[in-house]
Order: sequence, then structure tokens, then C-alpha cells
Amino acid sequence: MKEVVRVELGARAYDIVIAPGILADAGREIGRPKSGRPQLVVTDETVAAAHLERLASALDRPLDPVIFPAGEATKTWRSLESLVERILSAGVERGDAVIAFGGGVIGDLTGFAAAVARRGCEFVQIPTTLLAQVDSSVGGKTAINAAAGKNLVGAFHQPSRVLIDPELLDTLGPRDMRAGYAEVVKYGLLGDAAFFAWCEANAAALLAGDRAAQVHAIAHSCRMKAAIVAEDERETSGRRALLNLGHTFGHAFEAETGFSDRLLHGEAVAMGMVMAFAFSAERGICSAQDAARAQAHLAASGLPVSPAGFGFTVEALVHHMQQDKKAAGGTTPFVLARSIGDAYLDKTIALADVEAFLAPRL
Ligand code: GLY
Repeated sequence: MKEVVRVELGARAYDIVIAPGILADAGREIGRPKSGRPQLVVTDETVAAAHLERLASALDRPLDPVIFPAGEATKTWRSLESLVERILSAGVERGDAVIAFGGGVIGDLTGFAAAVARRGCEFVQIPTTLLAQVDSSVGGKTAINAAAGKNLVGAFHQPSRVLIDPELLDTLGPRDMRAGYAEVVKYGLLGDAAFFAWCEANAAALLAGDRAAQVHAIAHSCRMKAAIVAEDERETSGRRALLNLGHTFGHAFEAETGFSDRLLHGEAVAMGMVMAFAFSAERGICSAQDAARAQAHLAASGLPVSPAGFGFTVEALVHHMQQDKKAAGGTTPFVLARSIGDAYLDKTIALADVEAFLAPRL
């Protein structure tokens, strides 16, 4: 059960290796630091407690761990500064890889630090959450948060390798599994109706820990993301923007819940995708049946699908959409759908129409 997905980016091409137990091969998969110094590994307290010992025994070299508190509050300027200083003082040379061992927060922070330390050093992603395994560890978007919003300071900096071990998911709580699964469903909804049908048939097994289902879903998601990133690495042609299906609504929901445990990123994206399909259906762009089918599968997977009951106001949500980093030239581009598996970027949507759509749903 081993899958290798190549991200074709010329001189910056790299492999994503997906295999149960691959963590034990980390020593062979990741080259030794040229500096001969201990291997720098960036992680958080939760992952360190659960898995760092296994990584340490897999690496045939001494470890130099940098351990941050778990959670979004770690993606700050202060963490960036301390991590960059650690990279420099650890004597990491440009060809040496720093290992990001954690979820999206650790991957984003480490990737950004690697992008700027010595004007760019290598980093390897070993994602430990389903969300990071199917989305954030792949594609080179790195960032920290700023006072003005989430992920507003960052860089495109591709990892030199991504090692995905689905066995790491065994310690993930069911809520985090479901939230990560929303991003798996996203690939079916945005561009692959057959994969969405596979999700409908296999979600229960995947969420219950079926390894073959997990490997298939992760590899398929990574393959789709790799193809999109290879075509539009810097999100300029509109192709990569399709990965933001559900995210414009979703970011507004997350912002209004303070990016807190009240609503996890994947949960906000699930609700956002339901809104994107319902909005598309209301405008006659996609069928009501497809919108209902998308909603039914996400709900059956235990994900929230309605923004009602959170105390959201239309004004606040639309304000966030206006502020959204994707807003350009006075309009906010929305990823809408013509059908399941056929999303597209629509730059013609008036926020007044979004307001009228959302008002009765809150
Ligand atoms: N998570 C969206 C992207 O990587 O483009």
C-alpha cells in the first residue's frame, strides 16, 4: 500500500510518498544534514507527546526538536522570529532540510521560516492530521497570521518531499478526522464526480480507520492537488482558486467564531461548500438535486452543514467576505459549481445577492 505522487514543478518538483508505516523509513527518505549537525524537527506539544519518539528512532541521527504550543495561536511573528533564529543558530545549511512534523499550523510556520532563513532552505513535510495530509502540506503555501487576518503574511515555498503516514491518524480525534475529511470531499465536489461517488460509498470506512480507504482518499486528493498546483502554482490563472471551494463562506464563519474550537477549519469549509452549492442552485447554475446531494453526504459524515444557530449576522459575514484576501477590484470572487465535480471561479457575484441568499439561512 504505497503511493507516490509527483508534483511537477520543474526544478522544484518533489514527491509525496503515502504509505502506512512510512514514518519508520524517515531516516532513509530524508537525506542527512550536510552540516553534520543534529536534525532540526519542528513540531507541537501534542504531536511531540504522541509521535516524536517514533520519529527520533526512525532518524539515524540526533534530533534537535523545536516544540511549539499546539493551535492557531502559534502562527505569529514571534514564533516565526524564534524559529528563524533557531534555524540559523542550529547551523542549517541551504541544502539541509528542516522537518515540519505536525498539522497545518506547524507546516505553515515551518515552511515560511524555511522560505526566509538564508533566503530559502529546504523543508520536508511530515503531516500528522488528515487536513494537512490532503491539503496544507502540499503545494507550497506557507504563512503566519497578522492582526489584519489569517495567513496574510507568507510565501510560496515548496517542500522538497512530503511523507504521509496514515497510521499517524490513529491518534487523531474523530472531530478532527471529520474536519479533515471535508477537504477530501472538496476534491470530488470541485472536479471529480466519480471520486465524490467513491466518497459517498467509503466515508464511513475511512472515518472508522480503514487503511486502504484512507490511502486511496489521501493519494487521490494529493494527485488532484498536485495537478492543479503544477498548472497554477501561484494562483494566477484561476485554476488553483478552485481549491478555495467553500472557503469564502467558510472564512467568514471561522472569523465570526474567532478561529476557535467552536468551528474547526474543515467544519467551516463543509458549511461553506454547502452554501456555495445552495447559492449556485438558487441562481440556476447547478441543479437543486446536486446541491442536496452534496449537503446530504457532508451531513451523513457528521459535519455541520448549516450556519443557523451560531448567532451570525449577515452584515458581519459579508464584511468578512469583503475583507477576504481574495477580494479584488471591489468584487469578491466565489467558487461556484455547475454540478458535482464541476466548480468554477465566478467574479461577477454582487455581495448584495449573497446577503439576500444568506439572510434566511442564519
Ligand atoms: N489550500 C488551498 C491551496 O493550497 O491553494
